[in-house]
Amino acid sequence: MKVLVTGAAGFIGSHTAERLSVQGHEVTGVDNFSPYYSTQLKEKNAALLRSKGVKMISADLRNENDYEQLTEDPDHIFHFAAHPGISKTSSFEDYLSNNIIATQKLINFARKCASLQLFTNIATSSVYGGDATKDETALPAPISDYGVTKLAAEQMVLAAARNNIFRACSLRLYSVYGPRERPDKLFTKLIKDLTIAARIGGSELSSNPRLRTALAAAKAASMPNDTIDRAIKKGAGELGGNQHSFVAGQLPQTPLRSAAAVHRGGVK
Ligand SMILES: NC(=O)c1ccc[n+]([C@@H]2O[C@H](COP(=O)([O-])OP(=O)(O)OC[C@H]3O[C@@H](n4cnc5c(N)ncnc54)[C@H](O)[C@@H]3O)[C@@H](O)[C@H]2O)c1
Repeated sequence: MKVLVTGAAGFIGSHTAERLSVQGHEVTGVDNFSPYYSTQLKEKNAALLRSKGVKMISADLRNENDYEQLTEDPDHIFHFAAHPGISKTSSFEDYLSNNIIATQKLINFARKCASLQLFTNIATSSVYGGDATKDETALPAPISDYGVTKLAAEQMVLAAARNNIFRACSLRLYSVYGPRERPDKLFTKLIKDLTIAARIGGSELSSNPRLRTALAAAKAASMPNDTIDRAIKKGAGELGGNQHSFVAGQLPQTPLRSAAAVHRGGVK
């Protein structure tokens, strides 16, 4: 299968592109190497992907001319590219342009792809807002520019599916963790804290609540992260033409579950 993975130099996109390539698919990865966090990390991910046979293209999905570089007609699109996270240093324009405008241009590209079988949009539990603990039957009620723009992007993709332009589904991931995790994410920070905890140890450790939390979280989070496999499996055909619900992973029963786990996703 020919697969286009957007946001392939990023955290989850790079794992998906790598896994698909290892499975024998012909993978093209697209990324604009946005400076939201270290572009060196993204270059490193891209180099790894190239070594695994992924064709990496540096392109900005907001820019129509950049689509000329996408000469292959994909059978499947996984759309990970986004301005992620809820950050005080990101502007509304960052979210608007990278989440909504970029998705709209990608949809325009996708509608011209004659062999496209499925467009898998990657959404987020942030669409649920402050109480993101329920399943996909809960009504979206985002409370951030990130959540609002990701919900709009998701609905644009699903609107195309409702209009029979292409088949699509949307996966609302909860916080994902693992190697190559974004530097602004919880586990990257926890691991830094754990390194400090390991160094200082003893009484200093017990008097530092942040480091104690880091240790408790590390113990609690000993569950496998199977998001990628499940996302690929669902995206690759199990949806049977629907753009409906999917379960991305298990929830460990810990106080940190909302941060550490992958949650249910999908839309009705
Ligand atoms: N990490 C999580 O816990 C989590 C949870 C829920 C949903 N998601 C969603 O998963 C997707 C991937 O998240 P991530 O954590 O891997 O983030 P990431 O920042 O590591 O990856 C996103 C990639 O998209 C690229 N990108 C951004 N704008 C682009 C544009 N205009 N054109 C081309 N490329 C562009 C970035 O350079 C980056 O490499 C996002 O859609 C995000 O909303 C992530």
